[in-house]
Amino acid sequence: MTDAIRRHDPLVKSFASDNYAGVHPEILQAIALANEGHQIAYGADVYTEALQEVFRRHFGPAAEVWPVFNGTGANVVALRAMTAHWEAVVCAESAHIHTDEGGAPERAAGLKLLTVPTPDGKLTPELIDRQAWGFGDEHRAQPKVVSITQSTELGTLYTPEEIKAICDHAHSLGMLVHLDGSRITIAAAALDVPMRAFTTDAGVDVLSFGGTKAGMMFGEAVVVLNPDAVRGLRYIRKTQMQLASKMRFVSVQFEALLAGDLWRRSARNALAMARRLADAVRGIPGVEVPRPVEANAVFAILPRDVTERLQKRYRFYTWNEATGEVRWMTAFDTTEADVDAFAAAVAEEIRSSV
Ligand SMILES: Cc1ncc(COP(=O)(O)O)c(C=O)c1O
Repeated sequence: MTDAIRRHDPLVKSFASDNYAGVHPEILQAIALANEGHQIAYGADVYTEALQEVFRRHFGPAAEVWPVFNGTGANVVALRAMTAHWEAVVCAESAHIHTDEGGAPERAAGLKLLTVPTPDGKLTPELIDRQAWGFGDEHRAQPKVVSITQSTELGTLYTPEEIKAICDHAHSLGMLVHLDGSRITIAAAALDVPMRAFTTDAGVDVLSFGGTKAGMMFGEAVVVLNPDAVRGLRYIRKTQMQLASKMRFVSVQFEALLAGDLWRRSARNALAMARRLADAVRGIPGVEVPRPVEANAVFAILPRDVTERLQKRYRFYTWNEATGEVRWMTAFDTTEADVDAFAAAVAEEIRSSV
């Protein structure tokens, strides 16, 4: 028995972020399974050892997995390990590392980010070239890493061919490629390909693997695909405060997610619910869906008064104050009934605004 009290209504769902969802029951079970008894701390436990093999099955025999606490930490550790003090990271202006990490790459890792505006959150070899110059010029931070996000912050996807073209281009310039895979399971399920198709096989050097949005309680991982691309990762993870002492509880969650098909089942549900939501709201006069719905995010433009009333009933974020664009996200536990009720609420608020 516990003295804790349930303080929330478990029936209330939101469309704010896949981070608002709870923990997948199969993952909670795995945490309980790993509990009791003692295990060596700081990653020398049997669950973390077994995890190497699980990740190698997905990403190939050279893959090395380094569990960490969160996505910002995974990005900071990965990028720090890929760069020397004078080197820089090229990324989209909309990249999470630039917009949503409180400047952690700059503050915690001392990195220079060289950003490029993009229409859809995606870099291309041509866009990379806007920042990949000045090699050998001591006055310019030396471009060393291209960081891309899959699926992107704008809900779009790179095809495996697009990522391969980026990797080939970056490598031809002597640069490396990092992939922020905070939603990598969503991308693989949406493209209906194995995760290695757009990472290992496309030439990505290092990736940040997202567990939390896929249904874990917490935990992400840096996955090294090219061992020559990193230096001192073991020490950087510790000095960046991302070394979990009870690491078995991160590792066992990843095993539950990735040893079977839980990752795919969960991602497919989130994707199906995003499509259902987009289809439902597209038919409502006064609602515009301005971006393709390729992942588990639906962007919509609504009259401002409708957004305000709707936000009193459901939590979600305004993406762009200037245009009135909002973002709705689905998760592994979003149901058809949740989507239908939300779409009905959108229609109701639109009707009452006319
Ligand atoms: C693209 C992307 N990268 C990384 C993260 C990880 O962030 P956090 O540090 O909150 O786990 C997020 C979370 O929203 C994200 O959307």
